Amino acid sequence: VESLKGKDLLALDQLSGDEVKGLVELGVVLKKLGSEGRYPKLLAGKILGMIFEKHSTRTRISFESGMIQLGGHAMYLNSRDMQIGRGESVYDTAHVLSGYLDAIMIRANKHTMVQELADEASIPVINGLTDIYHPCQALADLLTVREVKGALEGRKIAYVGDGNNVAHSLIIAAAHTGMEIAVATPEGYEPSPDVMETAVAIAGKTGGQVSWTSDPVKAVSGADAVYTDTWTSMGQEEETAARLQAFKGFMVDDALVKHAKEDYMFLHCLPAHRGEEVSASVIDGPNSYIFQQAENRLHAQKAVLASIL
Ligand code: CP
Ligand code: NVA
Repeated sequence: VESLKGKDLLALDQLSGDEVKGLVELGVVLKKLGSEGRYPKLLAGKILGMIFEKHSTRTRISFESGMIQLGGHAMYLNSRDMQIGRGESVYDTAHVLSGYLDAIMIRANKHTMVQELADEASIPVINGLTDIYHPCQALADLLTVREVKGALEGRKIAYVGDGNNVAHSLIIAAAHTGMEIAVATPEGYEPSPDVMETAVAIAGKTGGQVSWTSDPVKAVSGADAVYTDTWTSMGQEEETAARLQAFKGFMVDDALVKHAKEDYMFLHCLPAHRGEEVSASVIDGPNSYIFQQAENRLHAQKAVLASIL
């Protein structure tokens, strides 16, 4: 996706619909090549620094594998081991790292910090999850629906649970591709009004639809895909008890998915909590695509890296 060369990837509302769809299609191509054992060395000699302020399995390993498959190198940087973990400024860190690396991928507590890093760095910055967005996840999610359902436009995806970072990026991604996204959360845990407004504006141009309800059955009715995420995101551990209470009735279980299309896909960004946001019967059942979805992080991110670098 030529237009993304040298750009940051912080949030999907900064991309055009064609760019989002282009990344998904490039992901399809790179996945097919990989399945044939072909790994074009598009990023030979390129170095990605990967800064983590939070835990990660999928993001860390898929980005590192992706860089290696593309002929480049990735460096895991735990923020606690860096001087930034003991107070060195984002400003100084951004300028210093720009001299060593070709791009930065960062998972951070605060989106504002990632924005500052991107503003100050002279190299592209990729968001690997913040408090408000998880764009690389949403690209892999689109890729998974595109593979299984053949197309995105006109498909209905229901997101049930917490209106969090994963939900925000999914809502914008769905709007960009002309999908219908129906979100069900308890009151008080809705997606951010800014995100909903942005997504509605994008959907107005693509023919997509964006809606919110507090009724999971309404959201899931007729859905092609049913998506959920943890009720307690990283950094919210102290709220666990209150959240378990607030999200009662929002578990994606057999009774709920009966309202979706018979061939619905179950999706979850992982890590999952069986018996909380999803029943074991659904996440481990025949309609679950969670491992294909997790694998697609690799392919979608290779598309991002190849385009940006
Ligand atoms: N889905 C996701 O981002 O997983 P990790 O936290 O393991 O990276
Ligand atoms: N919403 C979750 C996603 C983890 C990949 C979190 O932020 O912890």
